[in-house]
Amino acid sequence: MKDVKTVGIIGFGVMGAAIGLNAAANGYRVVYKELNDELLKSMFDKFVVKPLAKRVGQGKMTQADMDKTCGAIRGTTAYDDLKVCDLIIEAAVEKMDLKIQIFGELSKACPKDTIIVSNTSTFLIEKLMERVDNPARTAGLHYFFPANVNRLVEVINQKKTSDETYNALMAFSKQNKKVPITVKDFPGFAINPIFISSYLVLNAFLGGKYNVATLEKISQETLGVKYGIMWVQNGSGLGTAYHAGNSMVEYLAKSDIGFPPVPDQLKKMFESGKLWNLEDGPVLENPAERRVVGDSLLGSIFCISSHLVEKGVVSAKDLELGVCTALAWPKGPFTLMNEMGMNEASKRVKKAVEAGYFKMPGKFASGDPKPWNL
Ligand SMILES: NC(=O)c1ccc[n+]([C@@H]2O[C@H](COP(=O)([O-])OP(=O)(O)OC[C@H]3O[C@@H](n4cnc5c(N)ncnc54)[C@H](O)[C@@H]3O)[C@@H](O)[C@H]2O)c1
Repeated sequence: MKDVKTVGIIGFGVMGAAIGLNAAANGYRVVYKELNDELLKSMFDKFVVKPLAKRVGQGKMTQADMDKTCGAIRGTTAYDDLKVCDLIIEAAVEKMDLKIQIFGELSKACPKDTIIVSNTSTFLIEKLMERVDNPARTAGLHYFFPANVNRLVEVINQKKTSDETYNALMAFSKQNKKVPITVKDFPGFAINPIFISSYLVLNAFLGGKYNVATLEKISQETLGVKYGIMWVQNGSGLGTAYHAGNSMVEYLAKSDIGFPPVPDQLKKMFESGKLWNLEDGPVLENPAERRVVGDSLLGSIFCISSHLVEKGVVSAKDLELGVCTALAWPKGPFTLMNEMGMNEASKRVKKAVEAGYFKMPGKFASGDPKPWNL
């Protein structure tokens, strides 16, 4: 297995810098590439020097540790300087043509056995790597925001990813104190299809008796989380939420999986440039009216989770672990189904199918589904 010592990062923005910081803090040398000298300096100051100096000031880190971490990271504007890297993680902006071009450049500049991965949120890895020689060394390595805090990493095998590459990425993730799960190349991979369909279904209820505060509260109670789905959507930005929703609909709505449409409510809010107002009025008290939303949310989560497992995108065990780690749900979809009983889960799945959100998963198609084996 390839021994990774030096890590390259393409794009030192929100995600790239956090990935680099995480690696440097865990003993790796990091070389990051940015577009020009000005960005090299400003990104390093913003994402490395400032947060670490703050930790030192708060007594959470020693000056010596800060110096060591900073000293392990250096920047460049030239692909040639990435030759020394054993693994290169691309975290440039989410534009397909740009990413394909970057991977072509990396393939020309680096030795044939350098592992090359993308942190893309939405694009298929196989497509991004079409200009890379020796695609066996390519894969996806999908971190979650904020990448130096959130512990989940999806290790994404595309058709041509070799076992050696996969094993090196699992070892690298663990060395960085991450929780890696194994995922097949699929639109949005494993966790995002669940999160994105959840907010699309929830957003569609907005209006009439359901205000934002009510939907936030219902999502908190249904999933047992402190911060509900409306809150998390605000965190990632409604532009990201809207575009990611459209991308998933494009990939999946007409497939044998299906996907809920992007509701006008989300489109309008994104276009207004505002965020969801989480305190827009009193929370609806009527339990029956609240249950309609909660059941619809759960039905959709159960549908997409079942489809992901049936398509071999991810195992039930890894998906459960991934949802609990990345989204901080105390219970994953399969535990939720098992605990409420498969009969009750079936009723909610049926409703999500009748609403046109998803096609019926195989497990629920034949009347008497068995509990999930985790
Ligand atoms: N932000 C999130 O929550 C999140 C979560 C998971 C994955 N992602 C994915 O991570 C990637 C980066 O997202 P981000 O939020 O960090 O974006 P960002 O805009 O904060 O950072 C991107 C950086 O890439 C740099 N860049 C662009 N082209 C480059 C090139 N050719 N060479 C070197 N640097 C280049 C830009 O200057 C910028 O600093 C995207 O693919 C995104 O979909 C984002």
